[in-house]
This record gives sequence, C-alpha cells and structure tokens, in this order.
Amino acid sequence: MAHVSDLIAEDIDAYLEAHHHKTLLRFITCGSVDDGKSTLIGRLLYDSKMIFEDQMAALEADSKKVGTQGGEIDFALLVDGLAAEREQGITIDVAYRFFSTESRKFIVADTPGHEQYTRNMVTGASTADAAVILIDARRGVLTQTRRHSYLVSLLGIRNIVLAINKMDLVDWSRERFDEIVETYRQFAAKIGLTGFTAIPMSALKGENITEHSDKAPWYDGPPLMHWLEEVPVGDELAAGPFRMPVQWVNRPNLDFRGFAGQISSGSIKPGDRVRVVPSGRESRVARIVVQPRDLDQAVAGQSVTLTLTDEIDISRGDIIAAADDPPAVADQFESTLVWMDDEPMLPGRPYLMKIGTQTVTATITEPKYRVNVNTLEHTAAKRLDLNEIGVCNLSLARPIPFEAYADNRDLGGFILIDRMSNRTVGAGMLHFALRRADNIHWQSTDIDKAARAAQKGQKGRVVWFTGLSGAGKSTIANLVEKRLHAAGRHTYLLDGDNVRHGLNRDLGFTEEDRVENIRRVAEVARLMVDAGLIVLTAFISPFRAERRMAREMMQDGEFIEVFVSTPIEEAERRDVKGLYAKARAGELKNFTGVDSPYEPPELAEITVDTTSLSAVEAAERIVAWLDEAE
Ligand code: ADX
Repeated sequence: MAHVSDLIAEDIDAYLEAHHHKTLLRFITCGSVDDGKSTLIGRLLYDSKMIFEDQMAALEADSKKVGTQGGEIDFALLVDGLAAEREQGITIDVAYRFFSTESRKFIVADTPGHEQYTRNMVTGASTADAAVILIDARRGVLTQTRRHSYLVSLLGIRNIVLAINKMDLVDWSRERFDEIVETYRQFAAKIGLTGFTAIPMSALKGENITEHSDKAPWYDGPPLMHWLEEVPVGDELAAGPFRMPVQWVNRPNLDFRGFAGQISSGSIKPGDRVRVVPSGRESRVARIVVQPRDLDQAVAGQSVTLTLTDEIDISRGDIIAAADDPPAVADQFESTLVWMDDEPMLPGRPYLMKIGTQTVTATITEPKYRVNVNTLEHTAAKRLDLNEIGVCNLSLARPIPFEAYADNRDLGGFILIDRMSNRTVGAGMLHFALRRADNIHWQSTDIDKAARAAQKGQKGRVVWFTGLSGAGKSTIANLVEKRLHAAGRHTYLLDGDNVRHGLNRDLGFTEEDRVENIRRVAEVARLMVDAGLIVLTAFISPFRAERRMAREMMQDGEFIEVFVSTPIEEAERRDVKGLYAKARAGELKNFTGVDSPYEPPELAEITVDTTSLSAVEAAERIVAWLDEAE
C-alpha cells in the first residue's frame, strides 16, 4: 500500500491524475471503542500511509504516555483525537476521515456506538455506500450490533462487512467465528439484510486488514482493505431511470441557459428526450456541458450542466427526468422518521422539509408506531423524542417529485428543519405516496369569499389574541366583539375554554395537544374568514410556530395578532380561576408559565399592556386599530 509518498515524490502530476480518476467509497464503521473501532480506523489510515510524519511522532509519544498497548503504537489514539474521548474512552461525534489506496479513495464516517448517539450514526450512514459492523469475537452479537445493523438496513446500505475482530483473543477459533456468523445470519434475515461478508481479523495486530493473515488458514475470503477496494459502488443507480435534480439555473448571458445538478440516477446523452417534473414539460438534451469539453454521455454521480433544445421554464428544485419514465409527484407520504432534536417532534407542527434540492413545508401526523431500536418491537407513540424512530404520515404544502428511498436516496431521503431555530430536527425516508389525496379535489363554489364578505359589508379577518392564562384575552376579546357587534359587524368569538368543551374536548395540555388545538382552531377560523366573518380567537396559543402557521393559512392582511401582555406575576396575582395556585401546588401539570413554556410574539400587529391599560381601554385601542385598517 506504500503508494502515496512514492508517486507524490516522483511525479506529482501523474499522482494527481491517477488520484482524480479513482472511485470514491464512503463507508461507516459501527461498533464501540471496546470492539476496537478506533484501532481499526487508525490501522486503515496507517496502512494506507495517510498519517503524516508529525502526527506519527505525536502518536508514538502519546502511546508511551497514555497508550494501552505497552509502548507499541496505540492506533486508537490517532482516531480518538478529542480530549473528552481520551478521558472517557468514547467517541462522541461524527468524524469523517479520508484515506486512499492505489485503486480507490475512501471517506469513513466514524460514529459513536451508544444509543444516545443514534442521530450521529444516522447522519454518518445517510451518505454511506458500505458499512463495517464490528464485533468483538469474545462477546459475539450484542444488542448494539442489532441496533447498528437495523439502522444500516433502514438507511439502505446494502454492502456490509461483519468485521469479527479480536480473533487473536479467541485463538483464531474457526468454531467461534462460524457461531457468530450463524447468529448474525439469522438476525440479518429478519431485518431484510440479505448479504454480508464476514471477515475474521485483528485490527490491533493488523491481521486480515490489508494482507491475508496466515493465522486463519481456514478463511479464504478477502482481507478488509481488499473488500473495501472492490465493493461495487453506484452501479445500481447508473442502471436506473435518468433523474437530475436542478441545483441552479446557469444563465451567464442571453444565449446560454444551462441547468446544473448532480445526476442522481441513470445516464443521459445529447438527443435524449427529457421531461421536467413537476411541470410535465418535455424537451431534448442539446449539450452536456462540463469543463473543459462537452460530454457524449454522463452517468449517475456526475455533476453536469444540461442545455435543452427548447426554451422551457425550469427552476431550482425541479427534476429533469427520462421522458418515458419520470418520477411520480405527490404531497402525502408514509415515511420513517428519525428524530434528532432535544425538543420532541410535535404532530401537526409545520417543519421545513429539504428533499433533494427542494424545500417545502411539511407537517407530520401522529406516529403510527415507534420502533424500539434494541428489540425492533413496535409500540404506540404520540410523538417522537430525541433518537427515536417512528413511522409517520407526512402532509406537504405542495406536491413534489419523489422516489421511494429504497429506490433512490437523493429523491426519497429528507431532513426536517425547525422554522424557528433553523436546527435540523429529523431525518427521514419516504416509503410511498398516500393515494388518499388522489381522489379528493378542490371543489370551487359560485358564491365565494368576496361575495360573502360583500354581502356583510365587511372584510373577513381573524383577530388572534395570545397571552398567558389570566392575562385577560377572553375579557378583552369579549369587549371587542360587543363593540364590533354594536357597530353592525358580523363576528364570532372562538374562546379556548369553550372550544375545549366541544370540538377539542379530546385534547389536553401536553405540547402535542396544544399544537393540535391551535391547528384545528386555525382551520375553523379560516373557514369563518371564508364565510366573511370577523373572527376573534382567545387561546393561550403559547408557541410561535403554530401562530405562524395560523397566519400563513390566511391571506395578507387577514391575520391580526394581538398580544395581551401581562407579566406572569400579575396573572398569577389575579388568578381568576385559581389555576396558578393549583399548578404551584403540583396539582395541575403542564401549566403555561409554570411548567410549560410561553413564547411571546415578536411581531404582533397590536400589543396591549394590561398593567397600564384597563380591559375597556385595551378593547378600544384594538377596535380603533381595526377601523383604521379597513
Ligand atoms: S392552549 O395552550 O391550547 O392555547 P387554551 O387557550 O386552549 O390553551 O386553553 C387554556 C385554558 O385552559 C386556560 O385559560 C385555563 O382556563 C385552562 N387550563 C386548564 N389546564 C391548563 C394548563 N395546564 N395550562 C394552561 N391552561 C389550562
């Protein structure tokens, strides 16, 4: 494997040229430090000479100082670079490491093995073509092995090595090896992992890593490095139908309009017929532009710019596909979801979904079930917490072209982003589109919103009150409605306590129930605005995300947010319903302001401060604002 330094020294151009044309294999290692994972990665880096001299020197020094290998080089130290890891002896983040051999380049994602790092492992595995699942020969197949294998299978990795490590500690026993392989085979069949290669090895001693080991004459398979060098990558995708998600439209001047992206499956030649989804427009490929000269053909994995023979409208997020086999388009799906945020997944809350080059708002329904990653049992779930995996339905704000994740990771894999914090909160895999939306169409009616509003001589609107319990929302909303009514307005007041007697009587005060409470109320308010009414809503509506959702359901100018601002001390002092006292006494759980959060509005149209205004004054101010805005 001593290729790097030799060729770099002799002929740098030849080296770079050869390097450029090597294929790239991304793989993930699963296991824990105890299994010898860091030692294995360190060994791969060392044997491929990707350790620089100064690192080597530091490594030798460290090995003498902290090493567990009696003065020999401790490869784990190379990988466990983080101080915290060295102290605790665990790996805590996803670390990507690069090495190469004469025939291939490698990126290895090294993720921690513990259950609380499921999200890190999912991140590392999501781009991997292969997985190395490490097993300590003394300990055999563990719960952790099963969990890792399940995740690997979930993420669609089909090339798997079962690296049965520390064989030196079981005297290279063939019986032990066979026994582990058999146990694993039975488990793998259950989770749909059809093939794997088992390799007996010792990462520490370097046996069966780069060279065949004479310690296991009974093993006639490849050493790990050979397997990594030879496992096929990308063949399946290249054989699939052509798809290229458009990353950007390249328009340097009026004579050139190219669509740039990475081909996610199939191949393309000039002259091929293509269809753009979702628009459905068709054309032919004119040129495949890359530097320094156009191509006659391009395949999955290549980044290219296509020009077409017709002027058609294409934008970022569209997919250019084979005309006779384009991807389907849908807006409702079943999917598996891995939750990655400390805040739980809340059904009904809108999240931003990034899928391929598209971004779309998505809401998740209650999980159908949650998967216990250790036992693979399915259990009922209302929401998902950090590191939990569940199967849920998704509903998108608009239809998108997609593919099942099992067929195409680019077009079927997605992440969810919280719209407030911009954090990546989940990752998922589309299974299939739900057909239920297919047979439901929007029915237009002759009497429309404008006609209904005109008849009432007003514009339908929603005045959305938000604030703590006891802030005075209901009182002020009631006064506002009385004034509007007296002025001949057609109104309706939706009040939290009242709605919870009927429409929402099935909901409590957990976060997920509050989200659903507001979703339903917003839908009802929208219908009432459509009916031409001035709707007043008085709900705590504690979360910005749902108030924003309600706002986005209405048209511009229709949603007026009123923040009834009362400090918690004041609301608690009033305690009209005696609920703060109960909450403080621990008799009432999830009480807003006590043990459940309230997120004040940042951009309310109107704020009324009830410590300086009476309820009547507050109501007058709101009515005046509404009159003015007419
Ligand atoms: S919201 O958070 O989902 O918007 P909503 O406005 O419908 O709440 O209901 C709040 C009313 O329910 C309060 O005014 C109070 O009377 C009552 N209530 C009962 N339990 C709670 C609780 N745990 N937290 C807040 N309000 C509660």
